[in-house]
Amino acid sequence: MHTALCETLGIEHPIIGFTPSEHVAAAISKAGGLGVLGCVRFNDAGELDHVLDWMDEHTEGRPYGVDVVMPAKVPTEGTQVDLDKLIPEEHKAFVERTLRELGVPELPAEAEQRAGVLGWLHSVARSHVEVALRHPIKLIANALGSPPVDVIEQAHAHGVPVAALAGKAEHARRHVDNGVDFVVAQGYEAGGHTGEIGSMVLLPEIAEAVDAPVLAAGGIGSGRQMAAALALGAAGVWTGSLWLATEEYLQTMPNSVAMQTALVRATSSDTVRTRIYTGKPARLLKTRWTEAWTAPDAPKPLPMPLQNLLVSPAHNRLHEAGDPELVSMPAGQIIGRIDRVRPVAEIMADLLSGYEEALARLEKTR
Ligand SMILES: Cc1cc2nc3c(=O)[nH]c(=O)nc-3n(C[C@H](O)[C@H](O)[C@H](O)COP(=O)(O)O)c2cc1C
Repeated sequence: MHTALCETLGIEHPIIGFTPSEHVAAAISKAGGLGVLGCVRFNDAGELDHVLDWMDEHTEGRPYGVDVVMPAKVPTEGTQVDLDKLIPEEHKAFVERTLRELGVPELPAEAEQRAGVLGWLHSVARSHVEVALRHPIKLIANALGSPPVDVIEQAHAHGVPVAALAGKAEHARRHVDNGVDFVVAQGYEAGGHTGEIGSMVLLPEIAEAVDAPVLAAGGIGSGRQMAAALALGAAGVWTGSLWLATEEYLQTMPNSVAMQTALVRATSSDTVRTRIYTGKPARLLKTRWTEAWTAPDAPKPLPMPLQNLLVSPAHNRLHEAGDPELVSMPAGQIIGRIDRVRPVAEIMADLLSGYEEALARLEKTR
């Protein structure tokens, strides 16, 4: 499997894997794709710097990228203390009551209380960009809109191309007008923030709308789907959910066994698009936690970034509870294909052999 994107990014296969885990990102790059490390989990840019040092040592000189979150349309400044004050008591009480009703234990006194995610504040995301550009990254991607034009220019000044996710052709056009180099066409099926248009419709619309390489995202978990994406006009694929059920993921986040068990059990019907994770529509694994927010007495989710600050302490408790029915995790419909936890290299080999098989099948139709 080879496209012009392989030359541009210096990779063997046009398969890009987004992941919050440095171990997974390094393994994707070593397997010939491009591992893209999600930075939003790093409230402290120093910690990101340290993790990117680790990436530099563990990628055998293979290219890798980073992903930051700079929402284009969200008021994104303030400290956690200021923002906490904006969270209504009704919402806090609902979260507490729900955790109690679901039987989620309190965190042990010695457990480290992780702060809410501040990575979507522009000040924090800009610090991610500053740090990342000191490393030999080959791509910066932005979720939720084009990054500010000065950030695009900063990346270009370092010779680093910029990608941005788009859920509509109109967003894709805006990205390219702003100087973005690659558009990630993210279909409705995708894990995480997603729009309302399915990949089958979105991808050709975007491929025809912009004069830039387009990466297909949302619902890609097999060689068949990669072949379809290339047929629809993509220069490569951008994958996310697939890499959650990997052995390497546990090396970064050892307390993710319950999440992986839930993914293995889930079918493609077991996700839901909801605002309860961040305040913007994002596709999550459907669990008793997501269902609780559909109760008639549940409050409306708060706008970004308040909703994530509200639920972050609950996420810590849900995570520690270790119960597959109580996971809170972005995941796409493709999780229906996941039937076991595997090493990254095995998944990559299956994608590639599946692609060859799909092409051979198509060849017979000529
Ligand atoms: C657990 C998880 C977290 C995600 N977080 C981000 C993020 O921080 N930034 C981003 O650009 N995309 C994020 N995404 C979306 C992925 O980059 C990717 O576009 C998406 O997973 C592709 O669809 P798929 O899940 O069907 O493979 C996330 C996806 C998942 C599953």
